[in-house]
Amino acid sequence: MSSQLAAVAKALVAPGKGILAADESTGTCNKRFAALNIPQTEELRRNYRDLLFTAPSFGSYFSGVILYDETIRQNGRDGRTFVEILQAAGSLPGIKLDTGPQQLALANPGEKITEGLDGLAKRVDEYVKLGAKFAKWRAVITIDAAHGSPSDACLHANAGALARYAAICQAGGLVPIVEPEVLMDGDLATQSLETSLAVHERTLHHVFNELHRANVVYEEMILKPSMVIPGLKSGETASVRDVAQTTLTTLLRYVPAAVAGIAFLSGGQGNEEATAHLNEINVLAKAENAPWPLTFSYGRALQQPALHLWLGDDAKVEAAQAALSHRGLLNSLAAQGKWSPDLEKQRDLVATR
Ligand code: 13P
Repeated sequence: MSSQLAAVAKALVAPGKGILAADESTGTCNKRFAALNIPQTEELRRNYRDLLFTAPSFGSYFSGVILYDETIRQNGRDGRTFVEILQAAGSLPGIKLDTGPQQLALANPGEKITEGLDGLAKRVDEYVKLGAKFAKWRAVITIDAAHGSPSDACLHANAGALARYAAICQAGGLVPIVEPEVLMDGDLATQSLETSLAVHERTLHHVFNELHRANVVYEEMILKPSMVIPGLKSGETASVRDVAQTTLTTLLRYVPAAVAGIAFLSGGQGNEEATAHLNEINVLAKAENAPWPLTFSYGRALQQPALHLWLGDDAKVEAAQAALSHRGLLNSLAAQGKWSPDLEKQRDLVATR
């Protein structure tokens, strides 16, 4: 069992590959559809995921896909299950296991705790039977200077939940993606780069303490952190180099070398911005001999161009797929430190590689 999990973890962060996060809950997916006047039906959610997973060269860029409960049970347009479609494309199916964040009792207003631990071992068993190889759990950490958030109570509770989730996954046969997201968007995100750094350090310290206490095997897990970036409402801009250096330094301080890999979330960064940051992190990681592969596990920064082209229209499927493959290739290059801004404009890039 254990060496199998280590092999899955390694495959998820194989050179030049990353993860597509397509695990928006039905509510979140509907919200994104509604904003673009796409009807919010199960069929269109299915058609959209079908479009993504059957894009050209999908398996060359995406080692795995995080699915939502509805999607892992659906069939694609050709009748195969999505699990079969991904397997045929050479991409591993994964599953979101958390049931979302709720207000943390007796904590500062706006401090969240992620739920979903009750009955988790049974759900893991079922998803393993459905073909899942890995899982995700997202903790949400909000910075709010006015209330002194995040509190230690919030960081401790979320780290504890992440650790219990990760242990249950490893015991049940899934590689856990451990995702502590320090929010960079939203109305409260006015933090400086320096504050973001301090909160990331506290967060990672709590997370690895709890993972250690829970006996989680680092070689059989992936860390999915946010990058260290000033809040979108801070008015501060940091250079690509500063973001990359600060992010890498923080990870080198707090993440054990045995962790199989690090796959970042995009968290509200622009598409090109998320790619530029990942590229620079890899350039620096090479120079500093960082011990783990560093890649992407983006949702919005991968899907946005495709969704905006598709708009629910069957006639636009090919154009939308080309847009996803384009971002897949650019991020694959960034995961190797081989991206450059001029490649963004080359529309025929996928065909020429
Ligand atoms: P974003 O890249 O859109 O932040 O999504 C990644 C994810 O899986 C969040 O849980």
